[in-house]
Amino acid sequence: MPEWVIETRRLTRHFGALVAVHDVNLQIARGEVFGFLGPNGAGKTTTVRLLNGVLNPTAGEIRVLGLDPISQGPAVRRRTGVLTESPALYEPLSARDNLFLFGELYDVPPDVLRRRVEELLAMFELSARADDKVASYSKGMKQRLALARALIHAPDILFLDEPTAGLDPEAARQVTELIEHLSQEERRTIFLCTHNLVEAERLCDRVGVINRGELIAVGTPEELAQRIWHGHGISVRLGRPLSAEAVASLVRVEGVAQVEVDDTELHILLDEEGRTPAVVRALVEAGAEIYAVKPREHSLEDIYFQLQADARGGST
Ligand SMILES: Nc1ncnc2c1ncn2[C@@H]1O[C@H](COP(=O)(O)OP(=O)(O)OP(=O)(O)O)[C@@H](O)[C@H]1O
Ligand SMILES: [Mg+2]
Repeated sequence: MPEWVIETRRLTRHFGALVAVHDVNLQIARGEVFGFLGPNGAGKTTTVRLLNGVLNPTAGEIRVLGLDPISQGPAVRRRTGVLTESPALYEPLSARDNLFLFGELYDVPPDVLRRRVEELLAMFELSARADDKVASYSKGMKQRLALARALIHAPDILFLDEPTAGLDPEAARQVTELIEHLSQEERRTIFLCTHNLVEAERLCDRVGVINRGELIAVGTPEELAQRIWHGHGISVRLGRPLSAEAVASLVRVEGVAQVEVDDTELHILLDEEGRTPAVVRALVEAGAEIYAVKPREHSLEDIYFQLQADARGGST
């Protein structure tokens, strides 16, 4: 049984007549990188604010690290780090002074803070410019500093709201690599709101997709693909095209739902992965020259667009 560090039950937030978050049930395990995906205005930032006790829900329950953000907001925020959409840094101060300032705000003991500031400046490649005013930094440097700032009190959970938005590809990749480091080397729990599906695919163990305040899907990308496309797809690469009889014999194998032939590529849909050996046997018996058999992969982008299309279909 995983240790849930974030749990919500029927979490709901209205702004007047607008329902920003509706009946959201979430469970996020310690050490997990959870991607929170959804179009503009879907309710991602509102959810992050609710989870950190910055905003109170209209209805529903929340537990973050076993605490209730509604009544124990400061205690929650002591143990979470948040990178907001527009990071608040003190531009007239240097990177080093910003980190000291926020560390003191969080009551990090002075000797721990001194060590941590230098570690973070080094990790985020800011040491050389650490005493320059933040106002003189590039956007990528500011974003790295904002990430360092969110980590200054060594939080158990890190909330990142679009950490690579507006960065050039190189700066974005650098931030993505830092997040990967925080997850893999430091085993931090990360709640990542993003529009960048390639980044989400690379970083996230599981994703949740929100649309107009409703959580429409949660799971690993593989689980979501399986739910959408029912069954298990495999692709087979052959040395030469199959005969029509061989294709016909393949269709008769138990559990084969669909066969698509594209010259020397076969795309086969099975009711479950365990059918793969029988399919390979049937192919060999039919005289096929098999070069490769691999699971058919659906990108997170395919999955995301299909979920959004289904959600639109369901609501009209
Ligand atoms: N303080 C507020 N007052 C009124 N409406 C709000 C407030 N905050 C958010 N909303 C509305 O709630 C909805 C969800 O907004 P939210 O910022 O959570 O979306 P988001 O998924 O983060 O979008 P984006 O990808 O654009 O950042 C939007 O319709 C937004 O206009
Ligand atoms: Mg947002």
